[in-house]
Amino acid sequence: MLRPERDPDRPRRAERTRLERQRPQRPAWPTFKRVIGLHRPHLGVVALLIVVIVASALVGLGPAYLLQRIVDDALPTAAGGGSGSKLNALILAMVVLVAFGAFFGVVQSYLSNVIGQTVMFDLRRDLYRHLTGMSLRWFTSNRTGEVLSRVSNDVGSVQNAVSEALTGIIGNLIIVLSTFGLMLFLDWRLALFSVAFIPVFLFPARRVGNIQRELLGESQEQLANLNTRMHETLSVSGALLMKTFGRQQMEYDRFEETAWEIRRLNIRRAMVGRGFMVAMGLFTSLAPAIVYWYGGHRVLGGEASLGTVVATASLLGRMFQPVNQLMGINLTLISSLALFERIFDYLDLEQEIADRPGAVALTDVRGEVRFEDVTFGYRKDTPVLNGISFTIPPGKFGALVGHSGAGKTTTAYLLPRLYDVDGGRITIDGHDIRDVTLESLTASIAMVNQEPYLFHDTIRANLRYGAPGATDEEIVDACRAANIHDFIAGLPYGYDTIVGERGYRLSGGEKQRVSIARALLKDPAILVLDEATSSVDTHTERIIQDALAHLTRGRTVLAIAHRLSTILAADVILVLDHGRLVESGTHPELMARGGLYAALYNEQFADRAGAAAG
Ligand SMILES: Nc1ncnc2c1ncn2[C@@H]1O[C@H](COP(=O)(O)OP(=O)(O)O)[C@@H](O)[C@H]1O
Ligand SMILES: [Mg+2]
Repeated sequence: MLRPERDPDRPRRAERTRLERQRPQRPAWPTFKRVIGLHRPHLGVVALLIVVIVASALVGLGPAYLLQRIVDDALPTAAGGGSGSKLNALILAMVVLVAFGAFFGVVQSYLSNVIGQTVMFDLRRDLYRHLTGMSLRWFTSNRTGEVLSRVSNDVGSVQNAVSEALTGIIGNLIIVLSTFGLMLFLDWRLALFSVAFIPVFLFPARRVGNIQRELLGESQEQLANLNTRMHETLSVSGALLMKTFGRQQMEYDRFEETAWEIRRLNIRRAMVGRGFMVAMGLFTSLAPAIVYWYGGHRVLGGEASLGTVVATASLLGRMFQPVNQLMGINLTLISSLALFERIFDYLDLEQEIADRPGAVALTDVRGEVRFEDVTFGYRKDTPVLNGISFTIPPGKFGALVGHSGAGKTTTAYLLPRLYDVDGGRITIDGHDIRDVTLESLTASIAMVNQEPYLFHDTIRANLRYGAPGATDEEIVDACRAANIHDFIAGLPYGYDTIVGERGYRLSGGEKQRVSIARALLKDPAILVLDEATSSVDTHTERIIQDALAHLTRGRTVLAIAHRLSTILAADVILVLDHGRLVESGTHPELMARGGLYAALYNEQFADRAGAAAG
């Protein structure tokens, strides 16, 4: 099959595999041990499965043994003899054994599926729990598509490895060993002769498995890339950007390239070691001939019975399938380590922000917020905040102002511990926020973000997000206070209107007010508002400001304001400049001082006056 035409000059991004880059491979054993460890919580089922496997392996041996008895005892030989009733009994026994074997087979496949799916469930759940506990820093530095891909694609692909490996290895080993045992019992010379070639195949299998593991790891990586592209371009914001910049063709090409690479890697993985498998298969077909040749000579020499040779040939045939399967499992297992490595990588990520041992719950919050000489940087070498100190007394209104990029949002993020300070400390009612439980800390703070986020759900469900127990009356009250009730009530489905992913069916100001109502419903002691009126016109601003007046009553507020007109009444205005607190005081004090705040204020006033005149 030919790949569609492409521009030969365009660089091929997704071209080289890890294999070709010669990256060293990780040792398989620790990962393997950990995979085994995943079964520990389910030892009961595993034990039951082993019992069933053993039973079915033993039952499976019966027919070959009965075959020997039929040929040697029940059927007439050249010397005469034979017995019809014996033949009937032996055949009946064979039928019964086969029926039992089939029954055990069904139970076995049920149990192995249960184990495989349960291990997958455990991994999926643990991974989700772990990732939801990761810090914001981690989310801002990882691609959503990549993360999703690991949780869905990688975990989704391990099921086979887990259930197949367990039943496959144990089951087949038991079959191989017991079969070989019976062969030895029948005629050990013939038995040893028949299996002498098998070990030769064990060595290449490992190498093939390792190559497959590399290729699988690489194709999962590309699948994650593909997921990322899809996630970015098929989301509302991404689609909007792609369309307005007319980049569909470019995105299509990029997608096609990665998808083609996945195709290439998967074909290669399927074909690696095919030659080796063919050799195995050839040997399987030739084996009976070898047994009859050597066994036949032993019969001619009077050293073995005909029944023994027939039974040995049938046992050997029975052994080849499991040996083949063991090889296959070995391959699946080694290659699937690549999946587990990717999953374990994520499970091993350190949760940067977590409860300290002995953390206590923050209760009866009065709401005194205090920053003491706080220093912080997103990267250790570039500080964003430098020696910030201020106090907002309980129930007071504090406002943060400053140029864009001054560090206002960053300051707000530190309070609910979205990031931890690098130096200094932040206290609420005198408790260092790192000494209290995250759950109680976030319960006492509500945040209205710069870019409010809504889930693809009804307005009602979005509002209840911070207060699952809120009654419908409380919801309406909050929306009235946020000046959004009339708008919602006027929608065709009212509060049951679906807002669309990220709230794209609402305008910026409507979204802001829904998120204010959401914060109101949570009824927190401390409220953080990040530029709640930045993206709206003056009319909407006034409406939102009214809403905020309700919201801020009786709580400690840290408000970040772009429009300084919204914070004239603040109890304390904190002026940030390049990560430093350069001024603080009330509006009249700061105006009298004639510093940065006065300059910012005059600038805006001039703008507005100009706009009004124009
Ligand atoms: N997640 C981040 N990683 C690295 N740097 C960041 C991140 N977020 C913000 N910054 C940087 O930190 C500085 C302060 O940003 P921010 O607090 O958002 O400013 P403001 O809200 O005052 O406009 C800016 O220089 C910005 O580029
Ligand atoms: Mg900001």
